[in-house]
Amino acid sequence: MKIYSGLNEVTLSVNGKKRRVALRPADTLLRVLRERLGMTGAKAGCENGDCGACTVLLDDIPVKSCMMLAVEAVGHEVTTIEGLNDPELQKAFADYGGFQCGFCTSGFLLNAHALLSKYPNPDDETVEEWLSSNICRCTGYEGIRDAVSSCRRSND
Ligand code: FES
Ligand code: FES
Repeated sequence: MKIYSGLNEVTLSVNGKKRRVALRPADTLLRVLRERLGMTGAKAGCENGDCGACTVLLDDIPVKSCMMLAVEAVGHEVTTIEGLNDPELQKAFADYGGFQCGFCTSGFLLNAHALLSKYPNPDDETVEEWLSSNICRCTGYEGIRDAVSSCRRSND
């Protein structure tokens, strides 16, 4: 295992592009994305793993980037909301009122995208379970659930 100390220059792969960035071992992935790489779509909410506003995908799996060190992302592909290309889901959030202030939206979109990639036809319980990792302070859960459910393959 590589040991990091002081300031290190590493290469992160974000949204399909290699990015060289100087970081300290204790820097979270969230802070590096927002403050060094200018990707502010992942939001700093609770920064203790509860709200999911900071969700990004690591090799297509949702992770809370506030709970992960940036050095742990070396060698993996990070997808942020800036790199998400899921027009059907993104349109569904707009059509079904899946956001209000929008603070939680990038986290919900990435989480929902991962859910539908893994389970193209999830039942209500599965949708509920996946979405429970994220909090919407505007309490727009019904619209979010409806948006995700509208993208189930069985709706074709
Ligand atoms: S900011 Fe990461 S879970 Fe809330
Ligand atoms: S839309 Fe405001 S926090 Fe969810």
